[in-house]
Amino acid sequence: MVPSKVNDNFITAVANAKINLHLEVLGLRTDGFHELAMVMQSINLSDRLNMTNTDENKINLKSNNNEISNGEDNLIIKAAMLLRKEVGNTQLGVDIELEKNIPIGAGLAGGSTDAAATLVGLNKLWKLDLKINELEKISKKIGSDVPFCISGGRQICFGRGEVLEKLECNQLELGIILVKDPSIQVSTPVAYKKYKEEYGHTYLKDERDFEIKRNTIRSIDWSDQSLFNTRRVIQNDLQKSVRPMATEVDKSLKILSGLPSSRLVSMSGSGPSCFALFPNYDDANKVLEENFNEFERAGLSAWACSMMSNGVQLEN
Ligand code: C5P
Repeated sequence: MVPSKVNDNFITAVANAKINLHLEVLGLRTDGFHELAMVMQSINLSDRLNMTNTDENKINLKSNNNEISNGEDNLIIKAAMLLRKEVGNTQLGVDIELEKNIPIGAGLAGGSTDAAATLVGLNKLWKLDLKINELEKISKKIGSDVPFCISGGRQICFGRGEVLEKLECNQLELGIILVKDPSIQVSTPVAYKKYKEEYGHTYLKDERDFEIKRNTIRSIDWSDQSLFNTRRVIQNDLQKSVRPMATEVDKSLKILSGLPSSRLVSMSGSGPSCFALFPNYDDANKVLEENFNEFERAGLSAWACSMMSNGVQLEN
């Protein structure tokens, strides 16, 4: 058999979005960030990064979305520059074409997952041979959600979000309807600032109390199907602050809660995207199709998604 020819100079990295199955703000850290206890879940709403090795020492980015900067404030460029610096070779170059499908400013880690895909993709393309834990260590410097996005799946995330404990993900059959009003974005720093103003007085003060809360999260069987059977709103602390300032979040949560057979309903991350869980993908897709007009009338973009057991995936 003739082996298929692999192009060493080109790679595609598929970057999955995430939703928060849980987001609890425990307190404030000495570095000014919030101490969190979250459960994050990868979903199959994905960006694609097509990367081509170049002889020039430039990092070039093009995308199909003109709302996104192609400059150094883009986390893709930040990730590529940081990786070159970390391995001590600033001569490395790449052309990246981003196919953006994940809505931006949505609470779905769209920017973070693109950064994660850049690190994983360039590690292969530039033949750096860094291990996953080394990539995770580098990725923390880019953003709190980037380490999770590298391996993805379902993980408990502590600290700023970068301290990971992988969970068994045996509920991949659950379906998701995800909605977002395309006219608004929520700034993550603004969401945390507002939460601090409103709930700062409830923050836990010391590491011992944080650890008690972490142990509570660890003791929950996150693979227990019945956890997701109820219609109660799962805990996303930021939702308490973002919902009153963004009517679009309130509208989204009300519509999702009214859908037949929806289970848990919540905002994701710092919003404004919101989701409802369903027994399986087909149910979610059917409900989406049946209610398409209602989403459209409300001005919401809507997707039916599945849960994924992985983060970044490479294709050649
Ligand atoms: O780490 P990342 O760049 O995603 O954080 C964006 C902003 O969100 C931070 O500058 C901070 O204001 C807020 N944040 C926080 N605590 C966290 C994560 C984010 O206060 N654990």
